[in-house]
Amino acid sequence: MSIVIRDLHKAFDGKVVLDGFEVEARDGETLVILGGSGSGKSVTLKHVVGLLTPDKGQVEVDGEVVSDLRREELFVLRRKVGYVFQFAALFDSMSLADNVAMGLRRQSDMDRKEIEERVEECLRLVDLDGFGPRAPSELSGGQRKRAGIARAIATRPQYLLYDEPTTGLDPVTRAMIDQLILRMSSELGVTGIVITHDIDSAFRVADRFAMLHEGRCRFQGTPEEIRETDDPVVRGFIEGRPELLENAS
Ligand SMILES: Nc1ncnc2c1ncn2[C@@H]1O[C@H](COP(=O)(O)OP(=O)(O)OP(=O)(O)O)[C@@H](O)[C@H]1O
Ligand SMILES: [Mg+2]
Repeated sequence: MSIVIRDLHKAFDGKVVLDGFEVEARDGETLVILGGSGSGKSVTLKHVVGLLTPDKGQVEVDGEVVSDLRREELFVLRRKVGYVFQFAALFDSMSLADNVAMGLRRQSDMDRKEIEERVEECLRLVDLDGFGPRAPSELSGGQRKRAGIARAIATRPQYLLYDEPTTGLDPVTRAMIDQLILRMSSELGVTGIVITHDIDSAFRVADRFAMLHEGRCRFQGTPEEIRETDDPVVRGFIEGRPELLENAS
């Protein structure tokens, strides 16, 4: 059980974003992908759930090539792979509870009451109990972010992709989200990919790190290895020292 990204290439209007990116999220681990703004992190995650198709290369989830899946198979995949979008992506025309329930309604084996209970449980997990009837437009940015997480975990996915789950949150909420990511992994055995610029949060949740730079995997290793690396690109990024990157090749 793993997500394997092989030789992934993607360009938009001739501008190369991914240029042979390779990385693997192994069974049960939390992989943190680091990379500068615009380096292609969100683009990478979108390939994992088939929202984008590769120009070359592929993503495999449990050994299945995502870009080969038919429509119905993609729906099955998306129940298995929860996606916390960078900008929450909630539907404003629906209540928060309906947003969270969306993936569950397609599961014929759950009745209304079970769905309601699951929604309430997921909202509680992200500290939004009682917020179900609200419209997304009535939520703060941090609340929307947490609502996006509640929706992603509602189907009890085996995989979770978190795109900047803690960006813009206060320190206490950030720590709460980190705890949640850790619990998903330790209690439910979820395999996770976390994209973040938040280095403290990254070190709290990561089993392994990868760094995306100029379309490729610049670094892959454990938290100890990333702390000790002498690669100026990686050091410059985690220490917030752009001068290291400028002189690197
Ligand atoms: N659908 C699209 N059409 C055209 N260009 C796109 C599309 N999606 C992404 N891009 C471009 O691909 C590049 C990578 O975008 P991406 O969203 O993956 O960046 P990112 O690493 O997630 O950055 P950030 O940290 O700012 O979220 C950017 O230059 C972006 O403009
Ligand atoms: Mg992004």
